Parts: sequence; structure tokens; C-alpha cells
Amino acid sequence: EKYDVVVVGSVNADLVVGVDRRPEPGETVLGSDLATHPGGKGANQAVAAARLGGRVGIVGRVGDDGHGALLRDALAEAGVDLAHLAVTPGPSGVALITVGPDGDNSIIVSPGANARLTPDDVAAARDMIAAASVVTFQLEVPMPAIEAAARAAASAGARVVLNLSPTAPVPADVLALCDPLVVNEHEAAYLLGGAGDADAMAPQETSRALLRSGPRSAVITLGADGVVVADAEGATAIPSPKVDAVDTTGAGDAFTAALCLRLARGDSLRDAARYATRVGAAAVRKPGAQTSYPTPDELPT
Ligand code: RIB
Ligand code: NA
Repeated sequence: EKYDVVVVGSVNADLVVGVDRRPEPGETVLGSDLATHPGGKGANQAVAAARLGGRVGIVGRVGDDGHGALLRDALAEAGVDLAHLAVTPGPSGVALITVGPDGDNSIIVSPGANARLTPDDVAAARDMIAAASVVTFQLEVPMPAIEAAARAAASAGARVVLNLSPTAPVPADVLALCDPLVVNEHEAAYLLGGAGDADAMAPQETSRALLRSGPRSAVITLGADGVVVADAEGATAIPSPKVDAVDTTGAGDAFTAALCLRLARGDSLRDAARYATRVGAAAVRKPGAQTSYPTPDELPT
């Protein structure tokens, strides 16, 4: 295949402020100086996979503002194929991010150009999608584009990976293509909303319940506690290397990107997940999302 991974997804400028605590409604708090980083779950995955040595393409949209140029440059510098990164008049996607003292983050996304990604854009990128080993999605672009791309990927024989972030309803036939579906505990609880009290379940039980909801395989990410992988062979807990967290923003995207890349290169789901936890751990050690992504020689053991 020409591409290890093709990402269909969002491209955002991350406007980041560090805070001691977040304001209550009606309250003002002072934060750190503003940092502007390239981000967006889609672009993050593309950059992470490319930095690890993958051949990567992206299907997405940026605005014709200054952020758009910054975002395009960051992707180009990482070596991502930009043939299907289109420009829309108006603002690029922006993420307003606060980072707390423990490296935890809260994010509001203003979709901007990402909201303009259409099934026509996907149709224009048909050849790129068909030339991919793995096609991966997150939910910061409109569902009709994701549906079109997931179906195109599956009919071309590409493996489909979906990260249910931020949460949104996913058509059953798209869910059924996911191999794996990647979720954190909050996203798992959302998906299992109708199926009992996901909060009270142990992660392995949750992963089996997720599998029954339709995907071919499932991965639950548990932050510093690693991940649980579930497929027809059963549920397996995989720990994460211990590192000091500076900024967890985009660590999940780095994890998913590494997972996709290793699957593209022929790893089993468990081996791919083991490698990907090292990539996710590396990403929490530095500020920002893309700015923190490792090359293969920077991974913790
Ligand atoms: O997952 C982290 C990303 O979420 C940030 O880069 C931000 O842009 C939002 O999309
Ligand atoms: Na980081």
C-alpha cells in the first residue's frame, strides 16, 4: 500500500493556557501566557504516525486564516501528504485548552473549517483512501464524511479504526467496521449508556460489553493505567510505562496513531497496543500535543 495510515479528521489551532484551577461560572482567574500549538485530533494522529516513520495522508479542511497556514506547515514538516487538505474561506478549527497543575486538560473545540468536510471531499480523496492499510477517524468532523470514508475504506480492503472522541452517535454499520474502536472510560460509558451501569464495571467487563455493541475489536484507554484490548480472543490488560505527566493533551491521539501504524505494519492488536502505550506515555512528558510527539528513539521502555 502507498500509505500506512490515512487520517480523515480535524485540524485545529490549540490555544493553551495553564491554570491553577478552572473558573466557576461568573468567575475570572488568571492563567499563564498563551501558547498556540498545532492540534486537532485528526492532525495530531497524522503527525504522530509520521513522526514514528509512517507514510501518512490526511483528508481534512483548514480555514484561510493565519491558523490555517500554521497548521498546514506543521503537517508538512512532519511529512504528511497534504493533497487532500482543503482550504475553506473563514476560520480554522480552534481548541480552547486549559491545562491544570497535574497536566490534566479541559478542551472546548470550535470546529470552524472542520465542520465543512463533506462526503464530496471524501470522494475526491478516494484514491488516497484506497491506497491505505489503515484508515482512522475521530468525531470532530461531520458524521456524513466519516460514514462515506469508513465505507470507502472498508470496500477497498483497508482496516478501519475509530476513536469515539468527542462522543456522538455512530451508525451501526460504521461501528461494525471498527477494528478496533478506541475509547476512554467516559466514551465507553457513553456508548454503553443503555446497557447497564458502565461506571460500576471493571474495565475488562466494559471492554467485553463494548464488543457486544458491534465493533470487531475494542481498546479502552485508561490513562496512566494503560489500556484494555478486547476481541474474539478475550480481554487483555496492558500497562503503560510510568512517566511524570506534564501535559496529557493529545496523548490519546498519539496512542491511536501508533496503534494504527503498527497494525498497518502487520502487528497483532495486542503487540500494537503495547507499542502504542509507550508512544502515549512519551507524549505526556512534554507540553502540547504534536509538539510532544516522539520519534522511535525517544520512547520509554
Ligand atoms: O486530543 C487533543 C486535541 O483535541 C487537541 O489538539 C485539540 O485540538 C482537540 O481537538
Ligand atoms: Na503532551
